[in-house]
Amino acid sequence: MTTNNKSSGFSRRDFLKISSIAASVPLVAGPKVIEVAGQEVAVHGPGAVPVTLSVNGKRFNAELEPRVTLLDALREHFDVTGPKRVCDRAECGACTVLIDDRLVYSCTTLAIEAQGKEIVTAEGLGGGDRPHAVQSAFVNNDAQQCGFCTPGFTVAAKSFLDRNPHGHDAEIAHGLAGNLCRCGTYRGIHGVVAQMTGREPQGNAGTTMIASRATPSSKGDA
Ligand code: FES
Ligand code: FES
Repeated sequence: MTTNNKSSGFSRRDFLKISSIAASVPLVAGPKVIEVAGQEVAVHGPGAVPVTLSVNGKRFNAELEPRVTLLDALREHFDVTGPKRVCDRAECGACTVLIDDRLVYSCTTLAIEAQGKEIVTAEGLGGGDRPHAVQSAFVNNDAQQCGFCTPGFTVAAKSFLDRNPHGHDAEIAHGLAGNLCRCGTYRGIHGVVAQMTGREPQGNAGTTMIASRATPSSKGDA
């Protein structure tokens, strides 16, 4: 009698071997490649995939589902807790980090997208007995109360100053408009940047930062 196994070229033993291999393959797997409009596109997940990130000069590895945000990867998997979760929807800037010197909200960036790039958080600017000049200026200007927004603000301020070492008040207000402080320390934060540009803030500088929210966010402009 001719069996189905013979006609398909598969023996029952082959089938069992393949099944056992499949069962032993970890949930982590490389991307599938599908064709979309004539182009090959890599599809990751839905299971965990290997993710390697470079954060503040160190490499971190984990197996993460592709849906995991950079903020979750940093805080929950790599114990890098400078970026804070506040709004979790690209509104407040508490989660601000630099990716290849570009300001981004880590709560709305996928960890898998940040691979191969250099990520810098507030911890990466400095700290301890070697603070970054911006961090020292935050202390000197009493520019924090609860401090929850402060790490994101230090990253945004550092990025702004790199691009605008002589920014005037309106530019400072616009440049930091992507970050919110619920405690109202805008005057101090504005003073930080004004001090770093080498002059005192003028007029109502600092109180205009909320008004600047009507303008496009600075995120992505870096
Ligand atoms: S937590 Fe990311 S912008 Fe608010
Ligand atoms: S210091 Fe409290 S939210 Fe900014």
